[in-house]
Amino acid sequence: MVTGANGAIGKAIALAIASDPGYRVVLLCRDEKRAVAAAQEVRARSGNREVTHALADLSRHASIRELAKTWRSALHVLVNNAAVTPRRREETPEGIERQFATNVLGYYWMMGAFSKHLLSSAPARVVNVASYWAGGLDLSDLEFRRRGYDNDRAYRQSKQADRMLSAAFAQRWQGTNISVNACHPGDVNSTLSNNLGFGGHQSPEQGAATPAWLATSKQAATVSGGYFEDRRQVRCPFAADEREVGALVECCSRY
Ligand SMILES: NC(=O)c1ccc[n+]([C@@H]2O[C@H](COP(=O)([O-])OP(=O)(O)OC[C@H]3O[C@@H](n4cnc5c(N)ncnc54)[C@H](OP(=O)(O)O)[C@@H]3O)[C@@H](O)[C@H]2O)c1
Repeated sequence: MVTGANGAIGKAIALAIASDPGYRVVLLCRDEKRAVAAAQEVRARSGNREVTHALADLSRHASIRELAKTWRSALHVLVNNAAVTPRRREETPEGIERQFATNVLGYYWMMGAFSKHLLSSAPARVVNVASYWAGGLDLSDLEFRRRGYDNDRAYRQSKQADRMLSAAFAQRWQGTNISVNACHPGDVNSTLSNNLGFGGHQSPEQGAATPAWLATSKQAATVSGGYFEDRRQVRCPFAADEREVGALVECCSRY
C-alpha cells in the first residue's frame, strides 16, 4: 500500500513496485477521481493488473481506523508518503494543524492501525518517506499555536518527526519480522514542493528510487530503524536522540 499515490513521488513509487508482477499494489488516496485515474495509469504503464485503489483522509484518525477495520488482505509493504504544505495555517475538522495531522500523525496512525495486519503478514516492511529538509521540532508547540506558522518551518518539523517515528517503531517492532526505515526521496517538482517555493531537479522516477528500493529489495530487507539517502544509510541525529523520540511518541499518542 502506497499513500499519497496519485501525487508525483507516490505514483512513481506505486509504479516501481507494480512493475514487479509479484506485487499487488493498493494506491491509497483521498479523492476517488484522482485515485481511479492514477490506478489506471499505473496498471497501463506497469502491465500489472493487480493494481487497485482505496480511499482515506490520512489527516483524520477516524478515517484511518475505518480503513484498517475493513482491510481484508495481507499487508507486506506500507509506504507512508502522503504529505501537504499549505501556505497558510489550516486545521482539520478535528482542530489539528493540517501539516502535523497529515505528515506526522498520519504516519503514526497508519503504523498503529495497520500493525496487526503487518504482524500477521510478516515479513513486512514500512517505508516512511521523509526528507533531508528536516529540523526545528518543538515538542511544546507541535501545531504552531504559539510560534508564527510558516509552511517551511512546519514542513521541516514534520519531516524530522517522520524520521524519529521510524526509529520509534523500529524499536517497538524489534523481535518481530517488521522493519521500518525512513528516507529522503529526491527533489521533484510537485504541488508539495511548489508550495514550499522549490521546483525540483529530479524526475518522479528518480524520487521514487530510494523508497521503492527500501520497499522491495533484498539488500534492504534486513535493516530496520535506518535513514537513507540515495539508497545509502546515513546517520540521523534526530533518530539517535532516544529521549526526544520517546517524548514525540508520547505527544502523538495523545491525539
Ligand atoms: N517533492 C520533493 O522534492 C520532496 C522532497 C523531499 C521529500 N518529499 C516527500 O515526498 C512525499 C511525496 O511528496 P510529493 O512531492 O510527491 O507531493 P505531492 O505530489 O503534492 O503528493 C502528495 C500526495 O499526498 C496526498 N495527500 C495529502 N493529504 C492527504 C490526506 N489528508 N489524505 C490522503 N492523501 C493525502 C495528496 O493527495 P491529493 O492529490 O488529493 O492532494 C497527494 O497524492 C512527501 O512525504 C514529501 O514530504 C518530497
